[in-house]
Amino acid sequence: MRFSDRIPAQLQPTRLAALLRRKRERGRELIDLSESNPTRVGLAYPVEDILQALGDPVTLSYSPMPQGLPQTRRAVSDYYARRGARVDPDEIFLTTSTSEAYSLLFKLLLDPGQQLLAPCPGYPLIDCLATAEGVEAGAWTFYFDGEWQPDLAGLEENITSRTRLLVLVHPNNPTGAYLKASQWESLREVCRRRQLAVICDEVFWDYRLKFGDPIFDPLAEEQVPLFVLNGLSKAAGLPQMKLGWIVLRGPYSLRKQAAERLEFLADHYLSVSTPIQCAAGGLLQAGAAVREQIRQRIKFNLEVLNRTLEKTAARALPVEGGWYAVIELPRIHSSQDWALALLDQDGVVVHPGSFYGFSDGCHLIVSLLPQPNKFREGVRRLAVRASET
Ligand SMILES: Cc1ncc(COP(=O)(O)O)c(C=O)c1O
Repeated sequence: MRFSDRIPAQLQPTRLAALLRRKRERGRELIDLSESNPTRVGLAYPVEDILQALGDPVTLSYSPMPQGLPQTRRAVSDYYARRGARVDPDEIFLTTSTSEAYSLLFKLLLDPGQQLLAPCPGYPLIDCLATAEGVEAGAWTFYFDGEWQPDLAGLEENITSRTRLLVLVHPNNPTGAYLKASQWESLREVCRRRQLAVICDEVFWDYRLKFGDPIFDPLAEEQVPLFVLNGLSKAAGLPQMKLGWIVLRGPYSLRKQAAERLEFLADHYLSVSTPIQCAAGGLLQAGAAVREQIRQRIKFNLEVLNRTLEKTAARALPVEGGWYAVIELPRIHSSQDWALALLDQDGVVVHPGSFYGFSDGCHLIVSLLPQPNKFREGVRRLAVRASET
């Protein structure tokens, strides 16, 4: 039997993952600064409200709808109304996760062998999802000059006749940068001229820390075909509930055509469970308390990080939003070697920037979610290691 080329030929863990596994098997106590599972970082979830939402008796009947149940789409529309945006429930499609939404959209917009361009540095799963759908993920690069800027000239060069789609992560993971309204003006021109659709993944939208220049509002876009992604995973801090969604934006005539085709595709799977659709309204409301705790947590940990790295050879790049921070270190080692040394000698888990496509300089990525006492100690050990070099 032959397996498809969608699966990587090598499935061995990276050196870092293998070392981590060995340490865990030996029971070594570690400080995990890569922890980004909100259910594991000591947040006080509104348990009663969540369990009540999951107890809706409507759950017991099955009324399959490829687009998702109307009451669930209304609940998602209410989530946007709370942020001051009007979204018609008919322009919302439910999925089991944002990742599934990506896969559906790749099927909708790309033929096998065609190409999308995704942010670099950026979220590594996009590449894997593209390969699994038989399409290719190329890079569109962002560079840091005090703030993160899209490399527009480089982007134009990377667009070929096979390129159909631009992915924007807003704010980006792991850089935490929102695309500014002025940056979108230039990008919109490129997308119009080169006939590109856009996916705007805004799973971290609610976690804005720094307010400055106006940011791009994807929900207001009427010219370029655009698909906005979000889900309970980040918007309510409930990744285990498995509910995501797509909002259709861009020219109205294209929204309708996209909706018909998405409905056709979603009908193959009918993947979103009824219990979670019935619970979504209650979970989104309960999620407000979780979001607020996460916001406080990332703000607090970011201050600790900046204070601890002061007067060391390391520094955190500015974070506008999201759950991560990028730490810049002296280039004397590769980011992978820094991460291996921190794990092996200090018992601290971080991600090397190379995982996210950082190629210049030396960067480590930490989550801002860990419990403050663990975060403080982990960052202290990192600062000591950076100072010793
Ligand atoms: C940018 C980004 N998009 C999507 C996801 C996945 O979200 P979901 O759990 O809804 O699949 C993540 C998860 O970390 C993410 O960082």
